[in-house]
Amino acid sequence: MLAGKKILLIVTGGIAAYKTPDLVRRLKEQGAQVRCLMTRAAEEFVTPLALGAVTGDKVYRDLFDLTDEQEMGHIQLSRDADLLLVAPATANVMAKMAAGICDDLATTALLATDKPVVIAPAMNLRMWTHAATQANLATLTARGVTVIGPEDGDMACGEYGPGRMMEPLDIVKALAGFFSDAPSASLPLAGRHAVVTSGPTHEPIDPVRYIANRSSGKQGHAIAAALVALGARVTLVTGPVSLPDPADVTVRHVESAADMLAACEAALPADIAVCAAAVADWRVARAAQGKIKKEANGRPPALELAENPDILARLSRPGPGRPALVVGFAAETEKVVANAEAKRLRKGCDWIVANDVSPATGTFGGDMNTVHLVTHEGVENWPPQSKAQVAGRLAERIARHFPAGHGKTGQAAE
Ligand code: PMT
Repeated sequence: MLAGKKILLIVTGGIAAYKTPDLVRRLKEQGAQVRCLMTRAAEEFVTPLALGAVTGDKVYRDLFDLTDEQEMGHIQLSRDADLLLVAPATANVMAKMAAGICDDLATTALLATDKPVVIAPAMNLRMWTHAATQANLATLTARGVTVIGPEDGDMACGEYGPGRMMEPLDIVKALAGFFSDAPSASLPLAGRHAVVTSGPTHEPIDPVRYIANRSSGKQGHAIAAALVALGARVTLVTGPVSLPDPADVTVRHVESAADMLAACEAALPADIAVCAAAVADWRVARAAQGKIKKEANGRPPALELAENPDILARLSRPGPGRPALVVGFAAETEKVVANAEAKRLRKGCDWIVANDVSPATGTFGGDMNTVHLVTHEGVENWPPQSKAQVAGRLAERIARHFPAGHGKTGQAAE
C-alpha cells in the first residue's frame, strides 16, 4: 500500500523522536519515499545526521534557511508529499496546529499543506488527558486530521498510562490502512453527489429575535460524513449549529428555510438528497426591519405567520432535475410510523426515516437515535444506536440502492 507514496515525516521534540530512524526504515521497507523535516526541539532527541542517513536525503530544519527555501520552499515541501506524518506529535505542535500558528518550518508546512495529515501523539499522560490537549485533538480530528494512538504503556517519565507513541510498525500498518481506505473509485458511492440538510432554521421576527427549534445538527452532519466515507461527493446545507463542519464536505451555512431551499436548489443536480434538517414550518409573515419595542403599544405584539416552502417536497417533485433517491426524516411524538408513512406519501419522497422526538427520548440534541426506515416495501425497525451508527447504516442502505460502478446523476435501481 505504501509503494511509491511520498511521505513528509515531521519530527517534533519528544523523547519518542528517538524511534524515528526506525520508523523511516520501516516506511522505506514498504516502498514509501520518506523526506524528513524536524523542529529544533526534536534535534535534542535525534540528530539530523541520523535521519539524513536513513532517508538518504537532506533533512529540512530551518524556515529561514535561504538554501532550503531556494532548493525546496516550505509550500513545495508539503505539496510535494502524498501525506504529512507528524511523529512524534507533541502537545505543543498539536496546540499550534489547532490554533493555526506557524512559527517554524514544521508548523508552516502543516498550515500550507493541501494533503492529508496524520499525527502520532506522544506525551506525558497528564498532558494528553489535559482538557486543552483534548480540545485541540477534537479540533484537529474535526478538520480531518487522522490520529494514530497514543497507546498505554510505561513512559519515559516513569508514569504509566496513555501517551506513548505507537510503535513504528503499528504506525506503518495504520498508514497502509489509511491509503487503502482513501476515497477511491472503488467505493460504492464514488461518482455520486448527495445533498444533505441538517440543523434547525432560524426565522427572523426582527433583527434580534427569531423562531427556532431544538435541532443540533448531529444527525444530519453524521449522515454527510457517512456518505463521504462511502465515496460520495457531499454538499451539506446546514442551519445554525455549533458543530464543526465535517471533513471533505462542501458546506453551505444558511439561516432561514428560504435560504436553505435556495442553497439546496443551487447544489443540484444530485443523485441523492437526505433531508434531516428540522425546517421551521412557519415564518413571521412580515419580519420587522427594526427591533420591536417592548413598550410600543403596551401589549405583546401579535405575530402573523406564513407557511415556509417545503424543501423535501420540492426536491421530491417529479421531473428531470429530481435526485434519483430522496430521503426525508419524520420527527413525530405519536403514531411514529403511521404518521411517517403518511408524510412520505404526502411529500413524495422515496424513503422516510421516522424518529420519536418526544422530550423523554432525548432525540433532539442527543447522541442516540431509534429510527424506523419506511419505504414502499415496508418498515425496518432499527435498534437504538448512536446517530453516527444510524448515519452509517443509512449510508450503506443508500449505497445498496444504486447499481455498482460509477454513477451519473439521475440513475438508480429499485
Ligand atoms: O439535529 P439533531 O439534534 O441531531 O436531531 C435530529 C432530528 C430529530 C432533527 C432529525 O433526526 C429529524 O427528525 N429531522 C427532521 C425534523 C423535521 O423537521 O421533521 P418533520 O416531520 O417536521 O419534517 C418532515 C420532513 O420534511 C423532514 O425531512 C424535514 O427536513 C422536511 N421539511 C419540513 C418542513 C419544511 N418546510 N421543509 C422540509 O424540507
